[in-house]
Amino acid sequence: MILKSLMMPDPLPQHTPVLAAEVLTALAPTPGKRFVDGTVGLGGHSAALLAAGAQVLAIDRDASALRQAAERLARYGDQVCFVHADFRSLKTVLNQPGWSEVDGILVDLGVSSWQLDEPARGFSFRHDGPLDMRMDTSQPVTAADIVNTWEEEPLAELIRQWGEERYARQVAYRIVQARRQTPIRTTGQLAAIVRQAIPQRGPQRIDPATRTFQALRIAVNRELDGLETFVSEATDVLAPGGRLAVITFHSLEDRPIKRALRREAGIPDDDAPTDFWGRRVTPTPRLRLLHRRPIIPTDAEVASNPRARSAKLRAAERLP
Ligand SMILES: C[S@@+](CC[C@H](N)C(=O)[O-])C[C@H]1O[C@@H](n2cnc3c(N)ncnc32)[C@H](O)[C@@H]1O
Repeated sequence: MILKSLMMPDPLPQHTPVLAAEVLTALAPTPGKRFVDGTVGLGGHSAALLAAGAQVLAIDRDASALRQAAERLARYGDQVCFVHADFRSLKTVLNQPGWSEVDGILVDLGVSSWQLDEPARGFSFRHDGPLDMRMDTSQPVTAADIVNTWEEEPLAELIRQWGEERYARQVAYRIVQARRQTPIRTTGQLAAIVRQAIPQRGPQRIDPATRTFQALRIAVNRELDGLETFVSEATDVLAPGGRLAVITFHSLEDRPIKRALRREAGIPDDDAPTDFWGRRVTPTPRLRLLHRRPIIPTDAEVASNPRARSAKLRAAERLP
């Protein structure tokens, strides 16, 4: 569904996107070029692309984020259109006149600070709210469904694998004990249960609930599904010289992106097939990596926006 942009002034407070200058350098927007912003959020990166004169197709799976982006970017009129979708359905979204090939694609993974700060969305252990965590509220499964219905064993595995939580067994055990008394319905209830389950040794760098909340958020939104396929499909739709830029915030999402970009750049990975002589088969390169190592924020950016601290930008260019 394409929402037409609204012609309104921008009344909303300033929003600074992560690695903004670095993203602009990587995507190199110029007037008339066509870009997909697969995770428009509050529209910070899109605003920079639009200000450079580019056309932007702005996607988000969160209808509320999309409405706010439409308000913020209304001044750009027909230069931007908004689509409520998952960026992993890129090819379906681009199946419309004039968008079969694009000059650049950006995805800035994870949740936005706005979503985290909104108690009603249930993403954060810092604010009490319903235990929801869905980016797309039309999806059926919430975090409360998972913590109240999953068996202890798979729950522990989920928290261990996607939260990288070493006390996952203890956390799952406490959750199951607690829900026998009363269903776990709020972020505050869950955060308290997790904090009790994890041994506290001295001052904590992060809240002990952080890892369990991350695991549940990844599960609810199936955040790690299809990332490698996305890189391959994005490569299919890039025009020669077009650029793909991906910002990740933790190693679970960075690893598949890195692997897929390297494969598209013709760099075989360790499990690549071998030929008759045992040599790794080199895939035909379709991308050129723009940097040998991921770009990370400067100390100054982290100081002014602590949520940027774990961001990594990887970018590549479509070969002719
Ligand atoms: C980190 S924020 C993006 C911030 C944005 N770059 C800005 O400048 O405001 C991530 C956004 O991506 C959306 N999102 C996450 N995964 C998505 C997916 N698979 N498809 C579409 N949108 C997604 C979230 O709803 C959220 O609004």
